[in-house]
Amino acid sequence: MPPNAPRRAPFLSELRDGDTFFDATWRVSLPEHRPYKQRENGFFVVCTVADNTGSREVRCFDKPALELAVLHGATFIQCDGKVATGHFRGQISLENLQIIPPPEDLSRFEMPMCGDFRAHQARFNDLIRTVRDPHFRALLKEIFRHDGEFWRRFSHTPAATHNHHAYRGGLLEHSGEVALLCERLAGALPHIDRDLLISAALLHDIGKIEEMECDFSSGKIEYTHAGRLVGHIVLGSCIVASAAEKIEGFPPRLKHELMHLILSHHGEPEYGAAKRPMCAEALILSQCDNLSAKVAQCAEKTEGEGDFATTGGWHNLPFAPQKMVYVGKMRELKAETEAE
Ligand SMILES: [Fe+2]
Ligand SMILES: [Fe+2]
Repeated sequence: MPPNAPRRAPFLSELRDGDTFFDATWRVSLPEHRPYKQRENGFFVVCTVADNTGSREVRCFDKPALELAVLHGATFIQCDGKVATGHFRGQISLENLQIIPPPEDLSRFEMPMCGDFRAHQARFNDLIRTVRDPHFRALLKEIFRHDGEFWRRFSHTPAATHNHHAYRGGLLEHSGEVALLCERLAGALPHIDRDLLISAALLHDIGKIEEMECDFSSGKIEYTHAGRLVGHIVLGSCIVASAAEKIEGFPPRLKHELMHLILSHHGEPEYGAAKRPMCAEALILSQCDNLSAKVAQCAEKTEGEGDFATTGGWHNLPFAPQKMVYVGKMRELKAETEAE
């Protein structure tokens, strides 16, 4: 930077590997202490920062004693920092972190909306209409009624705090994508209960509306008390169970099958699953959920952040730490589609 050039706070999407930045202003959430792996003692701070161009998990090594309670109470921070190259390529570490009051102009922090909300909404509703089983259909219509607060919350909630679909409408987009993948696989594989699978796919992350609380104007996402203690998998299963109990004649067997698919959709207990998948439909759902999240991480690297000249399309992604993933082909195909 020339000596007298004014410093401009960088947007997250502008940061490139090797960059050093100053006076970045971001909203902050989900702070936690993490122990160093190769040291006996000591912690560093990990938190999520965001602006209206995206969100990233970042580390702060120079304030290890930072009170998490203080950071929990904060919405905005100002900091300097750098983006790593080499082994930890892409990792952002913060320095000189300060908690600041909310800026007057919050437009920079507003949570962005998913690409084509109306198209995602239409796809989701079309998938509901393909369910033929009268019990599942009644349940989906009851839960996803468009006249209530529930639909507004479901359709505007992000699917995650960071990593994938972490924007307004992300949950709607991700749930529809998972259901569409499941539908294609149900058509390609023998003897799959398609209606159970599609219904569970549309509902699989519904617990996120109780797990997270979002302030769209400042973009802050926080876990709720229920979210921390119970988590979206069990919360979602409870939402579905109580909705099924309100529908006259809803067979308990179908309710339990649906609950099983929701409880097992993270595949393994180490990823938060309350049960391992124990039927073909549960296996398909957990694989499609995983696929949607990972491909979304690749897709996000094809956007602003993907400085192709520097990276050649190779990135460290959260699902493959310590490994590089190539997104150059995806970037080319995306550019071709957009040019059409
Ligand atoms: Fe999930
Ligand atoms: Fe999911």
